[in-house]
Amino acid sequence: MQLRTLLARHFPRVDPVRLPGGFDRVGDIAVIGMTPEAAPFEREIGELLLAHHPHLKVVAKRDGEHGGEYRILPLAVIAGEQRLRTVHRENGVLLHLDLALVYYSVRSAHERARIAALVEPGERVCVLCSGIGPFPLVIARHSRAAEVIGIEKNPVAHDFALMNLRANRTLRGVRLHGGDGARVLATLAPGFDRMLIVLPHGGESLLPCGLTALKPGGILHFYAMQAKGCHRDARAAVEAACRAQGLRMEELGVVPCGHCGPAVHRVCVEAVIGPA
Ligand SMILES: C[S@@+](CC[C@H](N)C(=O)[O-])C[C@H]1O[C@@H](n2cnc3c(N)ncnc32)[C@H](O)[C@@H]1O
Repeated sequence: MQLRTLLARHFPRVDPVRLPGGFDRVGDIAVIGMTPEAAPFEREIGELLLAHHPHLKVVAKRDGEHGGEYRILPLAVIAGEQRLRTVHRENGVLLHLDLALVYYSVRSAHERARIAALVEPGERVCVLCSGIGPFPLVIARHSRAAEVIGIEKNPVAHDFALMNLRANRTLRGVRLHGGDGARVLATLAPGFDRMLIVLPHGGESLLPCGLTALKPGGILHFYAMQAKGCHRDARAAVEAACRAQGLRMEELGVVPCGHCGPAVHRVCVEAVIGPA
């Protein structure tokens, strides 16, 4: 039964459109967006969710927006066990994580599968801002890449990524590095076939090092937040970074891949990068 239908039965005095319409399931945790009208009943809403979904052990409400350098989402537990640590399965990989300490969004699972399907056998792939490792691990699981590098600055997220690599021990060719993307990338052999920059707020600062590390004719996937229907800024950022390095981009497309509020899209600018 849809969450809103369930809640409308229990809270008939609240306009149904003002009740939470759904939740994200991360392992055994439900993450729910609370409306002001539903807030007085949040404890009961949490208990109802636990009663109707026996696999859930924790219900947490969003308590703000993703923020800070590590893009962590403020959450508050409203029912069940007092924890935000769990194990989640996505695209055939196991992911250990603690939502209080790291970024992770189930909503990008489809995007990770899409990218993995683009990777050709033998490619060297680099994921800048790899978090707890979902992009590198899903790419390794579903492609025949020769090497998949992940670089993550949040030391706790990096530790989870290492744990996740151990938890998916059949995967080959994945190397995970902790530290700032630009600093670590400068120490690695360049010539990547594919570069992902997964920092939709502020990823422009990583474009120079990401472009430098691509081989001529390599493919860039650059994530950005954009007003719906307007992809000019994200494309312009890539164009400007290419120009500054004497490179040329041949755009493959701008792919919408999620949203952050009704008017803001997450997009992926995709381009082949070569000499000007
Ligand atoms: C939007 S999250 C994406 C995480 C991961 N790729 C995923 O899909 O779950 C961005 C990540 O970039 C990390 N980060 C921020 N600045 C960074 C930098 N300069 N170098 C490397 N990682 C960085 C954050 O800690 C965060 O984990």
